[in-house]
Amino acid sequence: MNILTVVGARPQFIKAAAVSRVLRKKHNEYLVHTGQHYDKNMSDIFFLELDIPKPDINLEVGSDTHARQTAAILVGIEDILLARKPDMVLLYGDTNSTMAGAIAAAKLCIPIAHVEAGVRGGYKDMPEEQNRIVTDHLATWNFAPSQIGVNFLAKEGITDKVFNVGDVMVDALLYYGNLSDIHDGSYYMARLAVIDEKRVLPDKYYLATIHRPENTDNILLYKDILEALELLDFPVIYPVHPRTRNLLKELDAIKKYKNIIFIEPLGYVDMIWFTRHAIKVITDSGGLHKEAYVQQIPGVVILRGTGWNETLKGNWNVLASPKKEDILAKVYDTKIDKEVWQPHYGDGKAAEKIVEILS
Ligand code: UD1
Repeated sequence: MNILTVVGARPQFIKAAAVSRVLRKKHNEYLVHTGQHYDKNMSDIFFLELDIPKPDINLEVGSDTHARQTAAILVGIEDILLARKPDMVLLYGDTNSTMAGAIAAAKLCIPIAHVEAGVRGGYKDMPEEQNRIVTDHLATWNFAPSQIGVNFLAKEGITDKVFNVGDVMVDALLYYGNLSDIHDGSYYMARLAVIDEKRVLPDKYYLATIHRPENTDNILLYKDILEALELLDFPVIYPVHPRTRNLLKELDAIKKYKNIIFIEPLGYVDMIWFTRHAIKVITDSGGLHKEAYVQQIPGVVILRGTGWNETLKGNWNVLASPKKEDILAKVYDTKIDKEVWQPHYGDGKAAEKIVEILS
């Protein structure tokens, strides 16, 4: 079968890495990178480190408003689909690249497989939720990462060719997690810089990432979040998404906040390591708070709702508003019921199941 895969943003490179490894044993894959993420630390590092086949084409759409970025991807993908005529289009997650891929393929009546289907956070004004809804409804095969995903799809009337295969991020975590403890020179550069130079000890820091527009578009909200991190009882390691670089400058944050260690975005293997050794993660990233849950690290999630609803059980993750007091209260006062943890996201064999079903 000729399969055309669309990726564009950081988490999709990791998901595609897990599936491509299995897919390419049986099928021909043509990999399209939309160029939604383009910084070295947001894109190239993943292809090098995760040994992902090089994209066959990069649309280089870059950053723009939602409509312009989505439109550029849509036009670019349509041209490629017309030229290559694949048997199917494979899409991941909930980014603008995902939704544009879905619309382009659906208009040309090319079947779509959506990996990470049925995830719902409950807020239609979040771009990710919009992208999820459109993609799930246009897809031919919907691969949900957990049973809740199957249930959400059923509520919206999608029941045909829906499969709970588990989460391909668990496949990736298991595969690359083994590398994360290897100190062979290629995988510990960021770790060395933070742990040795900044004298931060494993298991004695918080890990934070903040990049969602709802927390970064308003500088006052963003400042309040940083002030909470500044007041915490242990240092906070904060890999900075490029979207927030200018805000940090405007707030003179690097000079001002001594408890926060601002670093460049991390590669995936280092990110796994930093997550494993954190006291808690404090984040608005969907991927990170789920990865923390899978590794039994608690989290404070600065979002109104999460698509990863299972992780809220037993307070492994708790939602917080972007207010200093609420964040501090959630970090310090949350009682976690450790017995409640369950492997909701499968056994690390999601990619095999997906490829078997599609085959
Ligand atoms: C996107 C996804 C989000 C995902 C995140 C992972 C959408 C709507 N959102 O958000 O679901 O959690 O990726 O990181 O698709 N930028 C750079 N360099 C880059 C990439 C981005 O400087 O390599 C900056 C640009 O200023 C850009 C901003 O980040 O305007 C936002 O980038 P964009 O790709 O639109 O969305 P993300 O916020 O990264």
